[in-house]
Amino acid sequence: MDIFTAMRDRHSVRSYDDRPIPDDLRKTLQAEIDACNAAGDLRIQLMTDEPEAFGGMMAHYGKFSDVRNYLVMIGPKNADLDEKAGYYGERLVLKAQMLGLNTCWVALTFSRSRPKKLVVPGDKLVCVIALGYGVTQGVPHKSKPMERLYKVDGVMPDWFRRGMDTALLAPTAVNQQKFRFSLADKGAVVAESTGGAYSMIDLGIVKYHFEVGAGKDMFHWA
Ligand SMILES: Cc1cc2nc3c(=O)[nH]c(=O)nc-3n(C[C@H](O)[C@H](O)[C@H](O)COP(=O)(O)O)c2cc1C
Repeated sequence: MDIFTAMRDRHSVRSYDDRPIPDDLRKTLQAEIDACNAAGDLRIQLMTDEPEAFGGMMAHYGKFSDVRNYLVMIGPKNADLDEKAGYYGERLVLKAQMLGLNTCWVALTFSRSRPKKLVVPGDKLVCVIALGYGVTQGVPHKSKPMERLYKVDGVMPDWFRRGMDTALLAPTAVNQQKFRFSLADKGAVVAESTGGAYSMIDLGIVKYHFEVGAGKDMFHWA
């Protein structure tokens, strides 16, 4: 499966079956986690066969069932931590999808105490990402009209449209899609959050999608 198919087929999945993640997949995923941690100066960790984080009231309220594997998004407490967690977390989400696994970003409806034990002083737990073999593949989310999420004066370049198409497929907290991409001077793109809870995590996620869709060498972030 290529990354474009992964972006199209990925939907949040909250119910999992009891199949463990096979060793070879776990190793492949771990290599990608290591690469993300190195590139983003993060301390993302993979927890497997750990039922506590999704065993309490919060997860029950959030309609999660049988989540035993998850990524813990941790990094140094800096101003850009949430955005970086979003950016690299989504890279891992799409990698997992390409490996045949399902995922769900979770910032609220999980129990923090077990994953928090992994946090060292100076670092912060941003959120987690549930991971495993879903009972279903989930369903596509409703999307705002593209016109509300970008600003381009004049003719929209094809690469910008491809970036927008893929950004619309990205997960955002409560499907809020509170972001805007604007085309500035000569291949510079401004990406902004327009508010909402967890919106800087969302911003990192949608920027990753936009980059994949548009092609990294077609533009630069302003
Ligand atoms: C930053 C972030 C936080 C999220 N937190 C939760 C959560 O706490 N509980 C939950 O059930 N879903 C959570 N989600 C999943 C969103 O509800 C879901 O991504 C959105 O409705 C879009 O659906 P899709 O992922 O199927 O495209 C979160 C998503 C993001 C991006």
